Amino acid sequence: MSEPKQNSYSKHIFLCSGRFCDPGRQATKLYSRLPKLLGEMGDYDNPERIKRGLSPCLGVCTNGPLLVVYPEGTWYHDVDEPLLERIVNEHLRDGNPVEEAIFHNL
Ligand code: FES
Repeated sequence: MSEPKQNSYSKHIFLCSGRFCDPGRQATKLYSRLPKLLGEMGDYDNPERIKRGLSPCLGVCTNGPLLVVYPEGTWYHDVDEPLLERIVNEHLRDGNPVEEAIFHNL
């Protein structure tokens, strides 16, 4: 049996789409915006790629949509489209987390 193959990446972000933290069901819509917002940062062949995923629950269950950035373990709450754009541009592109929207860091 062969092993799965995975290209290199630098970060992995997850949005929670669970109904407890996101009763308005906005996370899926936000998730669909990520490919365009990430641009080349999300390209599969980019060794510094930022992977993305949707989760049914991240174990917090309030104040969503929630977004967490790994490996640093930076957690954002109440993510909407303007905040998502700031997270991508300021945190992921420029390395400056959006401090006022963070509720937890590892
Ligand atoms: S439902 Fe989103 S963290 Fe649990």
